[in-house]
Amino acid sequence: MPQENTGILIVFDGIDGAGKTTQVDLLSQALRNAGVTVVTSKEPTDGQWGQKIRQSATTERMPLDEELHAFIMDRKEHIETLVQPALDRGKIVILDRYYYSTICYQGARGEDKVKLRQDVMESALKPDISFIMDVNPHISQERIEVRDGAPNSFENIDYLTEVRKVYHWLCREDSSLYELDSNNTIDQLHTTIVNILVDGVLKDKLCAKDYGCDDEYHCSFRMTNTCQWSNLKSVLLKPLPKQTKFQALKYHTE
Ligand code: TYD
Repeated sequence: MPQENTGILIVFDGIDGAGKTTQVDLLSQALRNAGVTVVTSKEPTDGQWGQKIRQSATTERMPLDEELHAFIMDRKEHIETLVQPALDRGKIVILDRYYYSTICYQGARGEDKVKLRQDVMESALKPDISFIMDVNPHISQERIEVRDGAPNSFENIDYLTEVRKVYHWLCREDSSLYELDSNNTIDQLHTTIVNILVDGVLKDKLCAKDYGCDDEYHCSFRMTNTCQWSNLKSVLLKPLPKQTKFQALKYHTE
């Protein structure tokens, strides 16, 4: 799908219990504290399709083709009614789950993951940056039990083990994805995420120079406080212990 927008689309994805919601909340709060208007949202949404999906999570799952259709329709509606309009207004949009969930969850149910990946990516907006949070399903299961009492029909441990394998495959296929190791502390992960954003997409999109930031130190925009990126950086960045970013990012060599 062609895209023309001035906003920034940030996505968090991963298996249930990986800590996505915590990181979405922390990041949106940090950006809001820095004076940025942030729109947060999630999939499945609370719309008609999302409600149908959530209902199936508490009972029996829909047949695969029906389930896939519901997630795709939910996303279509989500983009049209919320995501694209917010991006058009120049907002930072942070999503808790996006098309990676469809590739991995419906892929793990038997859909051809290569074709599914191609289809879902062609039919939706491409995020500016995506974080995949990785966790062992045994740990995620414990978190789900503490949070909800019992896992729902999407959260079966054998199924989540297969879903996780598809996320690993996705990360190997697409080197632009940032795969985060959820064994790190919440704060380490948050600090890593903020650093990656500040050095990457925030700089690309918010630097005052249209040809990019070549010399931040001598930059007149920085010195006159008129560079949004530089201002944001000074508020957002906490000192990063040397090993943190290295530890929190996963690399797959197999
Ligand atoms: P979840 O994030 O747990 O929503 P909530 O906390 O509001 O109930 O999502 C519900 C389930 O939907 C989750 O187990 C993952 C699954 N899912 C898919 O199978 N495919 C998708 O495309 C998406 C977005 C979610």
